[in-house]
Amino acid sequence: MIRHRTAHPRRATAIASVLAAAAPTALAALAALGSTGLPAVAAGVGPAAAQAVTPDTVKGVFLDSFRAKGIANLGRVGQDETNAACTSADATRKDLPEAVRARVEAENMKTIVHPADGKYLGDWKAGEVLAQSGRGSTWTDKASDVNGGNCYNCHQISKQEISYGNLGPSLYQYGKLRGYDADTVKYTWGKIYNAKAYNACTNMPRFGHFGILSESQIKDIMALLLDPNSPVNQD
Ligand code: HEC
Repeated sequence: MIRHRTAHPRRATAIASVLAAAAPTALAALAALGSTGLPAVAAGVGPAAAQAVTPDTVKGVFLDSFRAKGIANLGRVGQDETNAACTSADATRKDLPEAVRARVEAENMKTIVHPADGKYLGDWKAGEVLAQSGRGSTWTDKASDVNGGNCYNCHQISKQEISYGNLGPSLYQYGKLRGYDADTVKYTWGKIYNAKAYNACTNMPRFGHFGILSESQIKDIMALLLDPNSPVNQD
């Protein structure tokens, strides 16, 4: 999971974002508990109400534990079809059935919008700032605040970083190792835009699809990964 080598002021926000991303998994774990039909006492409800806990009861307790605050509204607890499919697979501790996985990925693939001007790479310096920022969309942010990409929270990005998460693979030397060809560029754009187009139940947020990052922000992050001059692609 996430390892912290040093305390860092941006960390609190970053953790909040990761927890938000992990919420569907927590829901799945709770739902799995409910689906075992354990007596209520085992779920901490109390002996007086000792009755079977159903997935719906558990979901109710889960939903009831969230409050809207600032720009973080309860709409975020709702799941789209993709997340709902992955949650129910998690709850039964099975992978998505093959046909569902293929359909979910195809639906997500349709949402990917490539840059209208055909230019995929922006400014790696701006991309580095975005990749290292976990700000945006939390209840302590304003709607007008610029979202970061929070990439460092799950990925190693450069050799200089002293702290990063390892939920996702290292992106250090991404372009150098993968190449700078058109297919790699298009795949990387798609992955950042909507990661679930390639891996239905990945934990990676769908940055373009949900408007977390704008087209020009994604271009800057693309340059961080795929500009040969970016620190990512140095030795
Ligand atoms: C909450 C964790 C999380 C965050 C935040 C996140 N990712 Fe990921 N990412 C993952 C995981 C997990 C994978 C591997 C599974 C998969 O392929 O979906 C991944 C895979 C990738 C890949 C594919 C790597 C390959 O070798 O094909 C790229 C590229 C990538 N992420 C870029 C980014 C960028 C850029 C950002 C920031 C804008 C970012 N990720 C933010 C979790 C995350």
